[in-house]
Amino acid sequence: MSMSNIATYPSSQVEAIHGNFQGKDIVSLDQFTVGDLYMVFNLALKMRELVLTSEPSQILAGKVISLLFFEPSSRTFGSFASAVKRLGGQTLDIQNPEMVTSVHKGETFEDTIRVFEAYSDAIVLRHPRSGAARAAAEAARFVPVINAGDGTNEHPTQTLLDLCTLYERFGRLDHLTGLLVGDALNSRTMHSLMRGLSLFEHNRLYILAPDQLRLARDDFVACRSRGIELIEIASEREIPTNCDFWYWTRIQQERFSSPEEYQKLAAGKFVATPELLARYAKKDMILMDPLPRVGTIDPMVDQDERAVYLRSQIRNGLYTRMALLALIMGRA
Ligand code: NCD
Repeated sequence: MSMSNIATYPSSQVEAIHGNFQGKDIVSLDQFTVGDLYMVFNLALKMRELVLTSEPSQILAGKVISLLFFEPSSRTFGSFASAVKRLGGQTLDIQNPEMVTSVHKGETFEDTIRVFEAYSDAIVLRHPRSGAARAAAEAARFVPVINAGDGTNEHPTQTLLDLCTLYERFGRLDHLTGLLVGDALNSRTMHSLMRGLSLFEHNRLYILAPDQLRLARDDFVACRSRGIELIEIASEREIPTNCDFWYWTRIQQERFSSPEEYQKLAAGKFVATPELLARYAKKDMILMDPLPRVGTIDPMVDQDERAVYLRSQIRNGLYTRMALLALIMGRA
């Protein structure tokens, strides 16, 4: 299991965006300034129009993007593939490279990256190893690498859509009170979201995690030093009633050494139910989840207007990834 994620990579080690996305790797949320985030959100709004009107686009015409996914994915893979196609580009779809490429014959990760950079204009990478996106960015000499989730470390493009969803709802990303629930130790979406929210002032996050899946201590300290007010709580009964959002996550089964270990910890998982919302959630909050939910949100909650995970949140994944690709390819 991972020990620390947020503290591992200081921002000095990643190339800052500073208003210029063209050709840059996207490895960590630490590369973004507030201005960079707004550039993505503003363009995402235009992408939304484009999608809603089914307007044909040539923004990525002539571009081929490799989608190299060493881990299962529905939303991230699907939305990246859709984003490229909606913008007139093409994809090289490689799911399970360890089964269907020369990785199976023993080819190294670095060689695999160099092969696919020869065939495409960007590589979108998901990998079970923390730090794999950075390693790929170093191996690729000619094309940018986009981190679509590396182990328990980060998932920066998920945070773009999560922040976009919060911004869309509240018109701001500061002075927010949130509740993060689930596998705080292993959830890369949580880790990147914390980094993102730390760019804005006066954000307070309550964290509700099973005892053995609490945020790594180094990450806790690193997050606090970034200015986020972090408060760990131990049970649903401690959920404050003033949260602007709840961010629910599953226990990350694939990060455990054995099914038995997972079973043991998953037994202590938290479940969002209509009763829980009725008791602790305010009227104008939103309930988010990067998904998949694995018994962690009662389907009865889906009807609640505040539940955005199958509505704006997943749709924003498409719009923000379209925006990001256009910016990186210098076609915005
Ligand atoms: C997340 C991931 O893969 O990290 N899913 C996603 O990309 N939407 C969350 C998860 O798998 O639990």
